[in-house]
Amino acid sequence: MKRIIYLFIALVIPFVTTIGQTNKKDHAMIEKSLFGKLKDGKEVYIYTLKNKPGATVKIITYGATVVSLTAPDRNGKYADVALGYDNLEGYETGSAYLGAIAGRYANRIAGAKFTLDGKTYQLSANDGKNQLHGGKIGFSKDLWTAKSFESKSGPALELTLVSPDGDQGYPGEVTLHVTYTLTNDNELRIDYKGTTNKPTILNPTNHTYFNLTGVFTNTILNHEVKINADYYTPIDKESIPTGKIDKVENTPLDFLKLTAIGSRINDNFEQLKLAHGYDFNYVLNNYNGKVREAADVYEPTTGRYLQIFTDEPGLQFYTGNFLNGTPLGKNGVAYLFRTGFAMEAEHYPDSPNEPKWPSVVLNPGQTYRQTTIYKFSAK
Ligand code: GLA
Repeated sequence: MKRIIYLFIALVIPFVTTIGQTNKKDHAMIEKSLFGKLKDGKEVYIYTLKNKPGATVKIITYGATVVSLTAPDRNGKYADVALGYDNLEGYETGSAYLGAIAGRYANRIAGAKFTLDGKTYQLSANDGKNQLHGGKIGFSKDLWTAKSFESKSGPALELTLVSPDGDQGYPGEVTLHVTYTLTNDNELRIDYKGTTNKPTILNPTNHTYFNLTGVFTNTILNHEVKINADYYTPIDKESIPTGKIDKVENTPLDFLKLTAIGSRINDNFEQLKLAHGYDFNYVLNNYNGKVREAADVYEPTTGRYLQIFTDEPGLQFYTGNFLNGTPLGKNGVAYLFRTGFAMEAEHYPDSPNEPKWPSVVLNPGQTYRQTTIYKFSAK
């Protein structure tokens, strides 16, 4: 009998219930519950992490996806600022990568191919003839395993994915760990750690769309943005980098000072027209492998302030130009054109085909690492 009781305590209790402290204020907390089932019957879980100030992040094991994230306004009122869906079907059918981890290669690879050590690899193409965000079944459409824990800085969730050799055409079996920590300073910190058993390329990112008004029917055009980048990588009509690196100075792409997104978005500037708004890789200043401030976003009506820190060389700033209202988002809201923006920390798009750009190659014995932090406050 005793054994059965011990077994019950060891196996069943941690599985179904709250891990850590329950609903008390000023206490960090982690909860786990069933979110839905995939077509093959596999279960997808949702974890809620709550920090001491009372912010929460919800993450599902499908795509290692951030489903919601709350942040305080200038009166201390918390609201959800991340676009997402109410159910698994939204994530399975949606093509906007809301909140997901995109990979193996976030952003575009021209012709969906690259050459490594003399061998050319044909990848799964899902954006015309190009690849976008890892192919038809990239990391955002995979089921991850998860382990929650209390870290010194706040509640945390480590998600792990083993991507087999040949997955979407990529060589090598890659193991990627993504750890989300909701720190007690209201930061969502994302730490990546990846390894491979054959030479390959790896460049994941998180693709959360934010709307700092907390009301997803609003556009993001009044948000003010600052990006610490003197240069960007211009694109062609398929949004593939031309290979040049141009100055932002004297263009509507210059966000060196806080500037409203909507103030120049319709300017008669060829690059803006090609991208249907902002959808550009910024070459972040001071790239040396260390975490530094990459961008700030201020929402004047609520005072919400978001700072983005990363050790990556690039930041894709995207203004939701392809959001078209389907599938319906949380609470039945249609996410329309420019109702969310993304700040994706990553290497430059198409780097596998641009040998002069920072390398995305990962060899056996090496460890891929990335740290990106979204920090919330109010002014
Ligand atoms: C990235 C790309 C965009 C678009 C979105 C997803 O931000 O740069 O062009 O594909 O992902 O819709």
